[in-house]
Amino acid sequence: MSSLWQLMNTTRSINVPQTVEGSTRLGNIAVPLTATQIIALVIGSLSLLLFSSRSNKAFPGAPIHGRRWLWEPTFWLQSRFTFGAREIISSGYRKFKDRPFVVKRYDVDMTVMPNKYLEELRLIPPTKLSAVKAQVANLGHKWTYTTIMTESNLHFRVIQNKLIAELHKYLDIAKTELDYAWPIDVPSSSEWIEADIQQMMRMLVARMSAKVFMGHPACRDEEWLNLSIDFSIDMFTAAFTLRMFPPWTHYIVAHLIPARYRVMKNLRLAQRILRPLMEKHAEAVRRRSAGEQVDEEDTLLNWMIDHGTEDEKRVDKMSTRQAILTLASIHTTSMAVTNILFDLCAHPEWFPVLREEIDSITAELGPIGSTPESGSKQWLSRLEKLDSFFLESQRMNPPILLGPQRVAVEGLTLKDGTYIPKGSRICWAGYNHTNDPSITPNPEVFDPMRSYKKRYASPQHMNKYLAGQTSPDNLAFGYGKLACPGRAFSVGEIKLILARLISQYDFRYPDSIQSRPANMYADENVFPDPDAKIMMRIRHGLKV
Ligand code: HEM
Ligand SMILES: *[C@@H]1O[C@H](CO)[C@@H](O)[C@H](O)[C@H]1NC(C)=O
Ligand SMILES: *[C@@H]1O[C@H](CO)[C@@H](O)[C@H](O)[C@H]1NC(C)=O
Repeated sequence: MSSLWQLMNTTRSINVPQTVEGSTRLGNIAVPLTATQIIALVIGSLSLLLFSSRSNKAFPGAPIHGRRWLWEPTFWLQSRFTFGAREIISSGYRKFKDRPFVVKRYDVDMTVMPNKYLEELRLIPPTKLSAVKAQVANLGHKWTYTTIMTESNLHFRVIQNKLIAELHKYLDIAKTELDYAWPIDVPSSSEWIEADIQQMMRMLVARMSAKVFMGHPACRDEEWLNLSIDFSIDMFTAAFTLRMFPPWTHYIVAHLIPARYRVMKNLRLAQRILRPLMEKHAEAVRRRSAGEQVDEEDTLLNWMIDHGTEDEKRVDKMSTRQAILTLASIHTTSMAVTNILFDLCAHPEWFPVLREEIDSITAELGPIGSTPESGSKQWLSRLEKLDSFFLESQRMNPPILLGPQRVAVEGLTLKDGTYIPKGSRICWAGYNHTNDPSITPNPEVFDPMRSYKKRYASPQHMNKYLAGQTSPDNLAFGYGKLACPGRAFSVGEIKLILARLISQYDFRYPDSIQSRPANMYADENVFPDPDAKIMMRIRHGLKV
C-alpha cells in the first residue's frame, strides 16, 4: 500500500515540509490515513467480506483467472489484483491466448478478450460498445462528477474537429507557451543538479495544454495550472478508494474521502475561472455580430462554446468538462516524457544519436519555429529516431495494462458465436500483446530503433510504425473510433519538449540509482516511480 499512498500524495508532498530525511515507507503510509479513512477502510473490509460476490454480468464460458487455489475467496483474489494485476494478467494471457478470460477487480469483473476480436469489435458502433461508460465506471460515476462524459461527447468532438483538424497551428501555439515557460520551470545550471523531472514535465505540459484550451491569460493562472495537475490525482485517488467498496456503501464512503472534497473544491474553482472567459467570448460574439472587429484567441474553449448545445454550454458543465480534459491530457503526456528520459538515462548511448538527428534538422531548417518554413509541421515529422524511441519506451512503459476497455450497452454476438452479455466489461491485454514475442521479437531487449528499422525496411512501411498510430499490435492509445483523439497532439508536445531538453541538457541518474526505477502499479494502471529523480545540467558551452 505504501507506494500507492505516496503516489497519491506526490503533488501535495511538494508543499508539505518533508519529514525527517530517510523516513521509512511505513511512516509514509501512516501520514495520509485520517481517522475517517480508517473508518472507511474498516466498513469496506467488512462489507467486502460479507458481500464479496457482487452482481457482475457472467460471461458465458470465460473462466475466472488468477485463483491461487481452488477455493481462494473472491475477496482475496480481488485484493491481489490491486497490486498484482500485472502478474494475473500476464499469466492469463499466456494461458488462454485465444480464449476470453475473466480477471476480478474489486468493483468489476473484466473479461480479457483475445486480440483476434479487435478488428470485429472496431466495427461495432459506440452506441453498442461504449468506451466512455468504462471510463466513467473507472472514475467513480456520479460521486466524482464524471457522468457528464456520458451525457455528451463535446470533449471528444473539440479535439477531433478542432485541435487535430488544425494540429500544427495548435502545436505552434503550444510551442510559444513552452518557450515562455522554459526559464520559469527548467533550471539552468551548468553544474549537475538533482531535478524533480516529473513535476517539471507536468508543469510544461499543463501550460501547453492550458494555452490551447483556455488561451492567455488563463494559461498563466497558477490556480488553473495547479488545478489541472491536481485534479487527475485527486480524481484517481477518490475513484480508486471508491472502487474498493461495494456501490451500496458509496453513499457513506464517498463522504469520507478527502480527495473527493478536493475534486469538488477544484470544480468550483474551475467554474470561477471559466465564467469570466465564457462571458468575454459571448461579448465578443455579440459585438462581432453587430459588425465590430474583435480580436480574440482561437481557443478550444471558444470553439466548444460556439459548437455546444445550450446544455453543454452551462458554466458548471463546461468547467467540469474542461477539468476532465486536463485529466485525459496532462499526466498521460508528462509521464510519457518522463519515461523516455528514464529510458535514455538507462541507455545513454542514445543521447548522441538523437542529438545528431536534431542537429541535422536544425542545420537544414533552422531552429524550430525560427521561420514559417520551420514550424512544427515541417520539423516534428523529421524527428524519426525520436519517434521510434518513444514507441519503444511506450511499449515497455504503457499507461495501462488493460486497454482498450469497453462496456457492452446491449448483448452482442460475435461472428464465431461468442456472446457478450449486456452490461459486461470487456478489455484487451494490450501491454502483453505488444510484448508477445510473436509481435515483438526478443521483447525483453530495449531496442529503440525497432520501428525506425521496420519503416526503412520497405517503402510500403514508411508511413507505418509511427508514434500515435493505433494498430492491433499497438494499443497504447486504445483502438478504433474511440481511440485517444488527442494522440497526435500529445506526440507533438512530447517531441517539442524532448527536442529542446535533449539538445540543450545532459541527463543521468543520481549515483544512488543503479538502474531504471521500476514502474508502479495500481490495478491495471502503470506509473513511473513518483520519487525517482534524475540529474541534469546545461550541456557544456551552451547557454539557455
Ligand atoms: C501520451 C499521452 C496519451 C496517452 C497514452 C493517452 C491514452 C489514451 C487512451 C488509452 C484512451 C482510451 C482509448 C480507447 O479506449 O480506445 C484515451 C482516450 C482519450 N484521450 Fe488520450 N492519451 C494521451 C494524451 C491525450 C491528450 C494530449 C489529449 C487531449 C488533448 C487526450 C484526450 C483524450 C480523450 C478526450 C479521450 C477520450 C475520452 C472518451 O472516450 O470520451 N489524450 N487516451
Ligand atoms: C506480460 O507482461 C509482463 C510485464 O512486463 C511480463 O513480465 C510477462 O512476461 C508478460 N507475459 C507474457 C506472456 O508475455
Ligand atoms: C500552486 O502550487 C504550488 C506548488 O504546489 C504552490 O507553491 C502554489 O502556492 C500554488 N499556487 C496557487 C495559486 O494555488
